[in-house]
Amino acid sequence: MTAAVFLSATVDRTEEEGLGLRRLGRAVYPPEESAEWPGRHLEWAGSQWDIRVVANGGDLVSYTGVLVRSANHNGRPVQIGGIGGVKTHPTARGRGYAAMGLRRAGEFFRNDAEVDFALLVCDPSLIEYYSRFAWKEFEGRLQTSQHGETVEFVFNRVMVLDVHTPAPTNGTIDLLGPPW
Ligand SMILES: CC(C)(COP(=O)(O)OP(=O)(O)OC[C@H]1O[C@@H](n2cnc3c(N)ncnc32)[C@H](O)[C@@H]1OP(=O)(O)O)[C@@H](O)C(=O)NCCC(=O)NCCS
Repeated sequence: MTAAVFLSATVDRTEEEGLGLRRLGRAVYPPEESAEWPGRHLEWAGSQWDIRVVANGGDLVSYTGVLVRSANHNGRPVQIGGIGGVKTHPTARGRGYAAMGLRRAGEFFRNDAEVDFALLVCDPSLIEYYSRFAWKEFEGRLQTSQHGETVEFVFNRVMVLDVHTPAPTNGTIDLLGPPW
């Protein structure tokens, strides 16, 4: 497995990188599937950093989006690192490429971001996968904003990761913005 991992700010994304990302997005979520995706009506936050796993000398095989959000937990301010948009090309799965992106995100949160803990949302089928990387299920309530209104997030499951403080697994987290 010869693959390289790159992290860069989304504002620095080149046209070619943007094209590669859209191509990967279409391979993972063909238009006929994304048109039926129940989450398409939700407002989602965009990433601030891209983690790109590149193999075979240049192919974008896996992607993880990263962001940092000022939020609160039980009314107290917290800085949360987020990951979202995790995807691997269907022909490149099972080779640890998403794992490389997830580990890089963990390193970024520990070394380069002032975050207390990290958070992701996922389908129940992926809980076991993320647990391998020390993510644990958040059993409390997640408040988000949708078009300016505070709405409880119940669309899929919520997982958290200890970074500079132990991540809470209960209580109420308010993301003070859309989910990712
Ligand atoms: C989930 C995904 C990113 C994993 O990418 P990957 O590069 O193949 O991941 P890795 O090689 O690091 O790990 C592969 C493992 O993930 C498991 N896995 C992948 N998708 C899974 C799913 N939907 N449910 C349960 N396990 C899953 C595989 O079974 C495999 O397990 P194994 O190691 O025991 O064989 C990829 O399957 C994908 O792009 N899926 C569609 C998009 C998606 O669901 N993204 C997650 C959004 S939260």
